[in-house]
Amino acid sequence: MKLEPGAERAHPLTRIIDATLARSGGWLPFDRFMALALYAPGLGYYANDSRKFGQMPASGSDFVTAPEMTPLFGQALAEQIGEALHETGTAEVWEFGAGSGALAAQLLDALGPRVKRYRIVDLSGSLRARQRVTLDRFGDKVEWLSALPDTMQGVVVGNEVLDAMPVQLLMRIGGRWFERGVVAQGDGWAWEDRSTELRPPVEPEGPQDYLTEVHRHAEAFIATLADRLTKGAAFFLDYGFPEAEYYHPQRHMGTVMCHKAHQADADPLVEVGAKDITAHVNFTGIALAGQDAGLEVLGYTSQARFLINCGLPARMEGAALPERALAARLIHEHEMGELFKVIGFVAGAPWDARGFSEGDRSHTL
Ligand SMILES: C[S@@+](CC[C@H](N)C(=O)[O-])C[C@H]1O[C@@H](n2cnc3c(N)ncnc32)[C@H](O)[C@@H]1O
Repeated sequence: MKLEPGAERAHPLTRIIDATLARSGGWLPFDRFMALALYAPGLGYYANDSRKFGQMPASGSDFVTAPEMTPLFGQALAEQIGEALHETGTAEVWEFGAGSGALAAQLLDALGPRVKRYRIVDLSGSLRARQRVTLDRFGDKVEWLSALPDTMQGVVVGNEVLDAMPVQLLMRIGGRWFERGVVAQGDGWAWEDRSTELRPPVEPEGPQDYLTEVHRHAEAFIATLADRLTKGAAFFLDYGFPEAEYYHPQRHMGTVMCHKAHQADADPLVEVGAKDITAHVNFTGIALAGQDAGLEVLGYTSQARFLINCGLPARMEGAALPERALAARLIHEHEMGELFKVIGFVAGAPWDARGFSEGDRSHTL
């Protein structure tokens, strides 16, 4: 879906956002705006039919994720998932935010009969339809759920799902904190800051004005998951940092980014519904949310370290050159190797998980 400048007011998503704004007294906190922009039924970015994931803009895609780059990603991750199934005595995999279904296919191929059921929870109806096509050959081994059941057992996985959860924006101006929200203005929207009691978990050092995010949706998601997961483990891969780095004085512009046609920009108020909106993950908040709700942190490390621990280099040696080059991007420090992190949780007795066997950074959380 392409929106020409000026066409925004005529678009149904715009009308929904405007109606919500009007019902809310003319000001919407950014997390509610982001939730509509991404997930408004049929219209939000993840709910519409645009292609989203792919290697190149020519395919009509907006960004690429690790499982879309190479199946070696899923094969390496399967080493950890297989070990976790064994260690926790479970036989189900639960994937949150399964995108095109690429990772599910890679994991199902690699794990074979060790997975009795593969359950997918995705907010996006259009992506669920795409996943059904990708995963058709696995028959009724794959199941889709629209909500979490009261209890679940198995190994949970989510790649780039936490960064797609709405965030609240906080702005410090002249030493005072405000929540940043959205108001209608002319043909579009503008920012408006309101006084708030909300604070980031760490006060950024220094006197400078400072824009940042807090992640109550992602943390509530982890707390709910922790509550429901009676036996098993969970692994989330995403870009982000521990809180000391997240709320670093130099990161004063926040981390909200938009992606369209493989270009990034920092303005979520234009081309709404036509581009992805994300924020980096505060992994300390994620770890605490899981821990407070009864999970134990198995480990936390960079994606590079995790995939190397899971045997990616040996798989790369046996792969053709183009495949090897793509897999290298997953572990190169200047590509996805260092910015992306992996956090693992366990519900039950912890073990020395392979993915964190060397270079575990849990102490930095
Ligand atoms: C950036 S995409 C990542 C897709 C895929 N995991 C990949 O790596 O290609 C984010 C996905 O998370 C889904 N999502 C966001 N919030 C979710 C939630 N609370 N529960 C389940 N899925 C969610 C979106 O619908 C979308 O499929």
